[in-house]
Amino acid sequence: MTVEPDAPAIVVLGSINMDLVTTTARRPVPGETVLGSGFAMVPGGKGANQAIAAQRAGGAVRFLGAVGDDVFATELRGALTDAAVSADRLRTVTGPSGIATIVVDDGGENSIIVVGGANSRMTELTEDDLAAIAAADILLCQLEIPVETVAAAARHAHAHDTTVLLNPSPARRLPADLWADVDVAVVNSGEAEQLGADLDAVAHLVVTRGAAGADYRGPDGARLSRPSPRVEVVDTTGAGDAFTGALAAAWHRGPEWALTWACAAGALATTRLGASSSIPAREEITAALVAE
Ligand code: RIB
Repeated sequence: MTVEPDAPAIVVLGSINMDLVTTTARRPVPGETVLGSGFAMVPGGKGANQAIAAQRAGGAVRFLGAVGDDVFATELRGALTDAAVSADRLRTVTGPSGIATIVVDDGGENSIIVVGGANSRMTELTEDDLAAIAAADILLCQLEIPVETVAAAARHAHAHDTTVLLNPSPARRLPADLWADVDVAVVNSGEAEQLGADLDAVAHLVVTRGAAGADYRGPDGARLSRPSPRVEVVDTTGAGDAFTGALAAAWHRGPEWALTWACAAGALATTRLGASSSIPAREEITAALVAE
């Protein structure tokens, strides 16, 4: 994989999980047992997915996170390095890696339960982590690691003119001083409703709307919307991560281009099963936009 000489330097601080994916005609209701149609183990985690997506979409990405010392660790590390993401700051801690149990139905919709494992142990940033953040163009974070670590990273990035892009997912209320350090927030429409007025503090807000595309609101009140390319949906898992990673990789080209690029990446990710396994390459994103 080639990295362009002007590729933005992106540090992704976040989770890395082994996704245990079961496919089934329909997801069970509480108390019900249904028969599944397939099973796969696929590297995932919002942090790792977004790191791989940003790298494939044109960024030069370094990942800060943690795996356990279990059977999944080698494959999780390999998923990053196979995608040319720099994993030199990925630490190994004692105990299990992060796990996500995912059920995908025939409509491509999913339910996910995440057990944090090693991700919950990302409680400190080293001097090298902080130096990487200060030297980057963009810091990209989510909320599958302790929020205090995200806040410390965002504060450090803000103090060193590194653009802070936050995907506050899974959504929860965050301290106001964390929002003050965020330049760009990416949320889906459900998260936008949950977070409500907290998002007013953010200069650049991007709201994803699934097949309907995405909306942007800028600091001067500028607004724009972009549609999603029409695709045959297999599995929506990781589509938001593909969108967010691609947005980070294209952010330096302005919100209009970044939104268009990210909508194509997100749509393409729904055409394949799994999270990291479904993230498109730069050439595929370009081809999808040319075909529009
Ligand atoms: O956004 C999809 C991801 O959420 C999955 O890969 C799973 O690991 C959870 O983190």
